[in-house]
Amino acid sequence: MPPVRAYRVAPGGTLRGEVRVPGDKSISHRAIMLGALADGDTVVTGFLEGADSLATLAAFRGMGVAIEGPEAGRMLIRGVGRDGLQAPSAPLDVGNAGTAMRLLCGLLAGQPFASKLVGDASLSRRPMRRVTEPLARMGADIETAEAGTAPLTIRPVSQLESIDYAMPVASAQVKSCLLLAGLYADGDTCVSEPAVTRDHTERMLATFGCRVRRQRQRVCVPGGARLTAAPVEVPADISSAAFFLVGASIAEGADVTLPAVGINPTRVGVLYILKAMGADIAVTNRRQCGAEPVADLRVRSARLQGIEIPAAQVPLAIDEFPALFVAAACADGETLLTGAEELRVKESDRIAVMAAGLAQLGVEAEVLPDGIRIQGRGAAPLGGGSVDSHGDHRIAMAFAMAALRASTPIVVRDCANVDTSFPGFAALAAGAGLGIDEAVA
Ligand code: S3P
Repeated sequence: MPPVRAYRVAPGGTLRGEVRVPGDKSISHRAIMLGALADGDTVVTGFLEGADSLATLAAFRGMGVAIEGPEAGRMLIRGVGRDGLQAPSAPLDVGNAGTAMRLLCGLLAGQPFASKLVGDASLSRRPMRRVTEPLARMGADIETAEAGTAPLTIRPVSQLESIDYAMPVASAQVKSCLLLAGLYADGDTCVSEPAVTRDHTERMLATFGCRVRRQRQRVCVPGGARLTAAPVEVPADISSAAFFLVGASIAEGADVTLPAVGINPTRVGVLYILKAMGADIAVTNRRQCGAEPVADLRVRSARLQGIEIPAAQVPLAIDEFPALFVAAACADGETLLTGAEELRVKESDRIAVMAAGLAQLGVEAEVLPDGIRIQGRGAAPLGGGSVDSHGDHRIAMAFAMAALRASTPIVVRDCANVDTSFPGFAALAAGAGLGIDEAVA
């Protein structure tokens, strides 16, 4: 069990200066997976050394892949080729990492050996049928627990069949899982999405020489494709930057620059939503970082207004809602989010847990089946007190930032999982001016 860690955050203060947030979690997972399956050596830079992506790394080491590093975000993956993975000698434990579990499930379904995927208590509550059902249609043999959850027991089959699958939920993890399984299928595997989701898998597969075909919201990969190693430069994670975008927007006298943040169009919902709320964010120095676009983001304090969040932005900002709810709590007027039932099956039920924490801070929030209505406090400060993150990394960081507008200290409980996506968060935030201390609670 990780130590039960808490944050104690002093009220008020501001954020200033340059803040370099760690590498993108989604891209880091994919770099290991594709690097391991490629022919040749892949050098990765900017890799996120967080517990989630390190779990993926350990899983591939457990399947015989030699990986040097990571050291300061740099590593060398000695690709074993499409058919070079070895049977793991023990269950692959991916901890809290939903992306690792769902993507690996697809990849393992096509291997000639049996494997088992396990995760921590939170991951073991999350729905896995969304991947195991379409994989079963491809002929995969995967057993879940009775509730359709982990552990996942994967047995080899002689040949996966290709599929043309229309996803019922907009999920990049489901899409990526099926595309990875598709590499081992007998023809073209195609996945259509009901709304645009992050496309890092497609971009990286193309960089690794796979002939990915994309038509609007449908993507196809050819069965039997081989991958060729290619360098991967991981941009800073916009999902981690989001806490500073919100923190600097709500604090008085703030001015923060976040260099080289990934601005893939499938991930920039947080910029769209914050700007629609009146945030002062300048996107400068746009450039390409391998297959991914990046830019420097400069954010200064602003008076925010509540908005109705457009449905099309929901999948593009899916991981940023805990931070966005804090922005909404500090805005003038009401913010309404609907069409976001997916938030209920993330690392925690992010609607319920955020609403409970906001209530502790004196913010009125009405829980809806698929979203939330938040009554912003405008110029009035938030209250302080103790909030429980329920072990959800993004909720812990969101409430730490809320202290910038609180009248008394905020204690955030159960923060150890911040290490899954943002190791060093407290030190980095403290360096920028947040009055945050870590404590064992
Ligand atoms: C991810 C996809 C999203 C996101 C998760 C990372 C990915 O999940 O919430 O943090 O790397 O593909 P869903 O596919 O469940 O929407």
